[in-house]
Formats: sequence, C-alpha cells, structure tokens
Amino acid sequence: MNETDLLHELAPEAERLLERHLSVSKEWFPHQLVPWDRAAKSDPRAPWDAAAHPMDEAVRQALFLNLLTEDNLPYYTSKIDRMFGVDDPWGAWNRRWTAEEGRHSIVIRDYLTLSGAVDPVALERGRMQQMTHGFHQPIGNAFEGLVYVALQELATRISHRNTGKLLAQYDPDGYEVMARVAADENLHYLFYRDASTAAVALDPSSMVLAMERQVRVFEMPGAGVQGFGEMAKSIARAGIYDLTIHHDQILVPVIMRHWRLESLEGLSPEAEQARGRLVERIAKIDRVGRRLSAKREEATAGAVS
Ligand SMILES: [Fe+2]
Ligand SMILES: [Fe+2]
Repeated sequence: MNETDLLHELAPEAERLLERHLSVSKEWFPHQLVPWDRAAKSDPRAPWDAAAHPMDEAVRQALFLNLLTEDNLPYYTSKIDRMFGVDDPWGAWNRRWTAEEGRHSIVIRDYLTLSGAVDPVALERGRMQQMTHGFHQPIGNAFEGLVYVALQELATRISHRNTGKLLAQYDPDGYEVMARVAADENLHYLFYRDASTAAVALDPSSMVLAMERQVRVFEMPGAGVQGFGEMAKSIARAGIYDLTIHHDQILVPVIMRHWRLESLEGLSPEAEQARGRLVERIAKIDRVGRRLSAKREEATAGAVS
C-alpha cells in the first residue's frame, strides 16, 4: 500500500479518533495556572539568580528543555501537514492539535517567567537557537510519521509528568502546570497510537518497516537544543527520562503489547527481517539502559559513601 492509499483508507478511523478526542478533551486556561501574585516581587531587569530559586539542576534543565521543545511547534505543524496532508480529517486534526499544543508553551513560559525557576535570558537565547535550527527528525513516509508521533507524544507525556513530580517538592504550582500539559500529551498519544493500530491492520509489513526505522533513529524533538547531550544525561540521572523508561514505558507497551509486533502475520520477507532486527534492538536498548542505570547508582553510592 502506498502512503496516499493508506491515508485515504485510514480517513474514517482518523475521523472517529478526532471525534473521540473532542469528546474527552476538556477546555482549560493557561492564565489560571500561573502564579501571578509573584510578579510584584521580582524586577525583570535584575540579573537572574539561581540561588534565589534553589532546585535540583536536572529539574531546571528538564523545564528548560521541555519548554524549548514546545516552542518549536511551527515546524511540527508543517511536518505533519506534509506527512498527512491538509485535507480533512487529517487537516482538521492537525489544526486542532496545533491549537492545543500552543497552550503548552504559553503556560510553561508564563509559569517559568513568574516563578523564576529558569534564567529568562538563557531561555530566550535558547528559544532563538532552537527555532533557528528547526526540526530535522528523519521521517521517510506517512507510515513512519504515525509511528514517530505516537512514540514521541508518549515520551513527551512521560517527560513532562516526571518533571512535574520532581518539581512538586519545590513548587506545587509548577506541578499543576506540568501535570495539565502531560494530560494533553496523553490524549495526543492515544490518537496517534490508535491511528497506527489501524494502519498495522491495513498494512502490517509497511508498519513493521516503519517501526524498525523509527526506533532506530528515534530522537526526542528537543535534540536540536544546544547542550542537549549534557542535559539529557542529568535528566536521566534524575529519573525523568532514560533508556530504561524508553524501553519499559514506551517500546514494550506500545510496540510489543499494543501493536503486537511479535504476533503479526502475513509479513513480507523484508518486513519479517525488519521485525527480527527490531526485536533485537529493543532487547539491546533494555540491556544498555539497565547497565547505564546500574552505573549511575554505583556512582551515586560512591559519591555519598
Ligand atoms: Fe506539547
Ligand atoms: Fe502533544
């Protein structure tokens, strides 16, 4: 099946999933989650002082990275337009999705500005750098597009949620912001996960090839942010997002359990080989992730003893 046929065949399911999304998503207002009462206490032109806002640096970095990721929305919208087309129901979904995503950067930026948790100058410079760089995830066709966005929305949900949980000890208002955004990401994930499930039923071979490639090249959408590698390491150390979470909470529940990779039937010889490579890769991600976690635990134990 080519991608034009796929999108055409999937249109009734996309329509149903859009209707489902509209019936369960609740209206919310960014301004109601922002601690405006803190505005009077800060001078916006004074240099930012980390010591005035004590916090685990990993949580600070996760907030920085998560907001810059949300800021890059124009590129995601245009990529999704190109992947799935502007005709309804795909176009209608993308426009609604874009409107919802817009709230995420609004609420997180307003919260960070008011709370002072992140240096606003570094944040703005980071935003300029990130948006000038754009978004370059390699996505070869609509099959790969469905797989990537399903995995990515779930990864983003987990990252926002875990950031919020750690932020709660410093600032309960911040927890509320991140939990609200994570709840949106969950609904986005469910749309793409179920659209992908329908695609697997229509053309399992193309979808297995897409899964194999997207797991192999997967990067978080914030990977273009300057200093991403170092920030990702400390975010892993804090338990916000690491390879083990990627394996246990994304690859296994979505690819192995929901899309039932190992029990798909009628695959082409090429897809059969790709399935073998993918199962091996997922097992390797598990092994490497656990090895890295054990090393981090040893390093932490060494540091405190
Ligand atoms: Fe978002
Ligand atoms: Fe999302």
